[in-house]
Amino acid sequence: MFYFGVDYYPEHWPEERWPIDAQLMSEAGFNVVRLAEFAWSKMEPSEGQYDFDWLDRAIAILQSHGISVVLGTPTASPPPWLAHKNPDILRVQEDGLRVGYGARRKNCPNHPIYREYSRNITTAMADHFVNNKAVIGWQTDNEFGDRCYCDICQKEFQTWLHYRYVTLDELNMRWGTVFWSHTYSDWEQISLPLSTLGAPPNPSLALDFRRFMSDTYVTFQQEQIEILRSKCPDHFITHNLMGFGYNGLDYFDLTKPLDFVSWDNYPIGFWHEEEYTPSSAALGHSAMRGLKNKNFWVMEQQAGPSGWQTLSFTPRPGVLRLWAYQSIAHGADGVVFFRWHTARFGAEQYWHGLLEHDGRAGRRYNEIKQMGAELKRIGTQISGAETKSRVAILQSYDSRFAFQIQGNSPEFGYEKHLAQIYTAFWKRNISVDVISPTAALSKYDLVIAPTLHVLTDNVAANLGDYVRAGGTLVVTPRTGVKDVANVVVNQPLPGLLADVCGVIVDEYDAITSGLPQAIAFDVDELAGRTLPVQTWCDILAPQGAEVIARYTQDYYAGKPAVTRNQFGQGQAIYLGALGTDVFYESVFGWLLRQKSIQSSIEAPAGVEISERRQGDQSIYFVLNFTNLPQSIKLPAAHHDMLENTVVSGTIQVDANNMLVLGSKS
Ligand code: GLA
Ligand code: GLA
Repeated sequence: MFYFGVDYYPEHWPEERWPIDAQLMSEAGFNVVRLAEFAWSKMEPSEGQYDFDWLDRAIAILQSHGISVVLGTPTASPPPWLAHKNPDILRVQEDGLRVGYGARRKNCPNHPIYREYSRNITTAMADHFVNNKAVIGWQTDNEFGDRCYCDICQKEFQTWLHYRYVTLDELNMRWGTVFWSHTYSDWEQISLPLSTLGAPPNPSLALDFRRFMSDTYVTFQQEQIEILRSKCPDHFITHNLMGFGYNGLDYFDLTKPLDFVSWDNYPIGFWHEEEYTPSSAALGHSAMRGLKNKNFWVMEQQAGPSGWQTLSFTPRPGVLRLWAYQSIAHGADGVVFFRWHTARFGAEQYWHGLLEHDGRAGRRYNEIKQMGAELKRIGTQISGAETKSRVAILQSYDSRFAFQIQGNSPEFGYEKHLAQIYTAFWKRNISVDVISPTAALSKYDLVIAPTLHVLTDNVAANLGDYVRAGGTLVVTPRTGVKDVANVVVNQPLPGLLADVCGVIVDEYDAITSGLPQAIAFDVDELAGRTLPVQTWCDILAPQGAEVIARYTQDYYAGKPAVTRNQFGQGQAIYLGALGTDVFYESVFGWLLRQKSIQSSIEAPAGVEISERRQGDQSIYFVLNFTNLPQSIKLPAAHHDMLENTVVSGTIQVDANNMLVLGSKS
């Protein structure tokens, strides 16, 4: 069954409205809602006094319309009585100031009192809802994140470090605390990386603090999971993550104990309107799928214009449905829109739901209702269908954390670099898995490892084994620079991968935008091409690798910029510079042709084609993100699953519209 639904806040509306809501939801084809993740003060109006009656009544109405329920634990927003009684459960910011009460996600995740209240409300909910047949699963909290710098966190951090390093001598040695006379003689001397230090902290301390905070949320969540698993063994447990763009927590760790990943997909969230492209949403899907290498849900899918103080533009007709189908195209087995009604009050009055402020079901509702009717026909054929990728991009939270601490160059963003590489594949409609550097790699023909800045022995061994056995690995600048303590390695770069790459970095140049640099290729179809590079240039000294491109400018004109090394049965390509889009499109185009990897259906620019496979059946999603109709030349006859007709030859896809095509193979 394909799960299709909406995030619903019955507590925001008079009870007389609930049956109308359930009726409209059912007419839209919805079969699931998420409830209660911000309803703590309604469920526990005063300490230890629980009231679930209202929620039982809301669930009963939904259930009578065939709608199932995912319940959120409400711990992202504690009630006023709790914070009033225990003001120090509120988080301390990086500047050392404690936040006030009045927003959400403002609690200290380590505070023992907060932990206790979190366990209590989770226990009360689990006990109450275990036998409610409409409830199918749980969402822990809401969008975990945010670091706390309070005294309790400092103490916990010291304990965490003690456990990790065992002795202070070891910590002092690994962190290089001899620098600036920071050698510790007691664990209690270790402070937090507050912004009031007035200068950047020791990068080793800063990286460990990020890991510690990430582990904190893993254990916070784990306490809820243990309660839910023991009391409600038949329910699934998930959490709504913030996609690829969020880099505050190690999402591999956080999602390990979950049944599946969910994430919140706002292609035009107000904070990044200019950045939005269909490829950035696609990257979010690929990265979230890659956390568990498994299909996922979108727990919050954009339902209208977004906005808190100010509003984003209105998604044009067809666009909400198109984005929701893009989620499905990349492996979503559940799509839940945020939110049902547009709230009339509170901080998110302008973050639009499917219904208008006055409760009207208008254009956006009707668009999604059309999708609901479509999924009633084809949803079961799609649900569980897999995505198959021959290309992987590795992402490392350790490296992302390290890059937050030391960005190497103002123009060198880890996320930006990875996204640029991903986009080169997205433009060719090549499916990519975005996975952990420790994942099994043997099934991939091509693995890209952008800037594995913090490189461990086991990751280097994993990559070495992959290449030795015949794989093609692409490595980019600033790889292998740091050891696990965030200290620069005592060996030529790319450090632990120098062997596999057959090259060392002799010198490097963090060029700023004013300095022109380019590289000239001398290999296969790229021979004779000169392409501009930017931001970072490694000047290479081959140790067995073949030079396939050289710099053209400045004192290192003629020096190696890109190398290829035969290693075992495979090859490792070292891209010594960061490039513009055309650079990545050219290099990966060359490698894809070498591997005979291509999309089964060709499409014009702005049209995405993604494939899911159900047994021997291929399901192609043809998504036209342009404002013009586009023609697609089909290589063979396909089943148009929405129209239930056979199509072949050249077909049209309308502007901001899509097709679902099936074929046997
Ligand atoms: C100053 C200080 C040195 C060193 C350099 C480089 O000159 O005296 O200790 O910090 O700057 O940052
Ligand atoms: C996030 C949160 C939601 C809501 C939306 C819109 O995704 O999970 O509760 O705040 O953003 O702002």
